[in-house]
Amino acid sequence: VRISRSIVARLTIWYACSAFALILISTIALYGALVANLDREDEEFTADIVNIVRAFLRDRPQDVNGLKQTVEWEWARREYAQIYVRVIDARGHPVVETPQMSHVLDARVFPAPVAVTAQPGRGVEILAAGSKSFRAVSALARVGSDRSATRVIQVALDQAHEESLLSEYRKRLWLVLSIALVACTAVGYAIARRGVQPIAEITETARRIHSSTLDSRIHTAGLPAELFSLGETFNTMLAGLEDSFGRLSRFSADIAHELRTPVNNRRGEAEVALRQPRTPEEYRYALESLLEEGVRLSRMIDSLLFVARAESPETQISRERLNVARELNVIKEFYEAPAAEAGVDLIVDADEDLWAGLDRTLLQRAISNLVANALDHTPQGGRATLTARRDDGELRVDVADTGCGIPPEHLPRVFDRFYRVDASRSARSGRLGLGLALVKSIVDLHDGSVEIASEPGQGTTVTLRIPRTEMTAP
Ligand SMILES: Nc1ncnc2c1ncn2[C@@H]1O[C@H](COP(=O)(O)OP(=O)(O)OP(=O)(O)O)[C@@H](O)[C@H]1O
Ligand SMILES: [Mg+2]
Repeated sequence: VRISRSIVARLTIWYACSAFALILISTIALYGALVANLDREDEEFTADIVNIVRAFLRDRPQDVNGLKQTVEWEWARREYAQIYVRVIDARGHPVVETPQMSHVLDARVFPAPVAVTAQPGRGVEILAAGSKSFRAVSALARVGSDRSATRVIQVALDQAHEESLLSEYRKRLWLVLSIALVACTAVGYAIARRGVQPIAEITETARRIHSSTLDSRIHTAGLPAELFSLGETFNTMLAGLEDSFGRLSRFSADIAHELRTPVNNRRGEAEVALRQPRTPEEYRYALESLLEEGVRLSRMIDSLLFVARAESPETQISRERLNVARELNVIKEFYEAPAAEAGVDLIVDADEDLWAGLDRTLLQRAISNLVANALDHTPQGGRATLTARRDDGELRVDVADTGCGIPPEHLPRVFDRFYRVDASRSARSGRLGLGLALVKSIVDLHDGSVEIASEPGQGTTVTLRIPRTEMTAP
């Protein structure tokens, strides 16, 4: 069999993927926000510098030294994010610039300056000597109140510090993401394992079950709804199995018991008879007794075999189109002599035109068993009635008597094999307790049902209901 990937593996993968994707997306979004923030800070910072220099040029146009000091001071006070400032006059000569700036940043690499009144904006990213990267802006500025005289201000901000900051940050992100991936997988695995734990328990219970431990059950209390009904179904199945197994083993015990006593008795009798020479009459008596028991035992084995075969699912019955009244009358004729002997009135009351598809031999066997029971338990002067009716599309046959009846506590078990209400009385008359079990098997083979109703002292009625299978007329 091909077993697809386990539920645990699937759930783990799904959980890990979705949780990790969420973490990844939020990490990327946060990183983006950080970069944007830093950019905006840089932009505001360079804009501030441009505005300071613009203000200086406007307010103190002649104070070149002051300007120089301001520029140098801006440079000197920064330790990490180095800032370079240059002011160029109309002919392109630098007026002032941050010390060392000409070595690092040539004036030509700066972007074109923005207008006198405009803000310098984001500027451009430039790579200077030594592959250092700078954010560079340039802007025009007015000198004093002279409308025609302008200077160009160039400001460059060293990005090295910011970049190392970001790269450090990225390193940490990778670390966090790796840990998150491992953690998501672990958590997903734990959740999935927890989820399928009840399945493992059910499997474990199922594994433990053998024919001797059919009484074990799955603890359905606290199972999740999806598995609850599975567990219940499983338990119902177990209960059914336990019941069948129980009946089967009781049945075998009963058979052994039923066979042992008569076989032992006859064996004893035979041994006694053979111990010394006997008269022909004595031998005859012994043989007759053996034969009688032999007949009884073979009848019992026949019945048992029949019940066993009837319960096997392959058993087929051969239905014929029967006139029910005619069949009942055949049975009545057969039992007329024993009925007269018992002083019981045997009556058939059936519709003449009642036809049904039934197995003739089996039907006769079932009804005969019921009639035999009725005659057995009805005292002289009583009555036994066979009734056949069409009832709600079914064939209904009642066998009623006016006999001693059955105490209610025995009623549920009379269809069990070997069950006899008065065991000692039945044993004396050679009864096996298989008659009603046979009736039930026969009715089951016809997809029908059988019921018994009884009133102690009043009588008993057994009702067969068989779905009518109409056969086409022969
Ligand atoms: N019509 C009835 N009136 C009173 N008791 C009955 C009647 N039919 C059955 N019983 C009781 O039900 C028990 C089971 O009947 P069942 O026909 O299965 O066995 P049995 O008659 O004892 O033996 P077998 O039919 O195998 O010879 C009987 O022992 C009997 O006590
Ligand atoms: Mg019987």
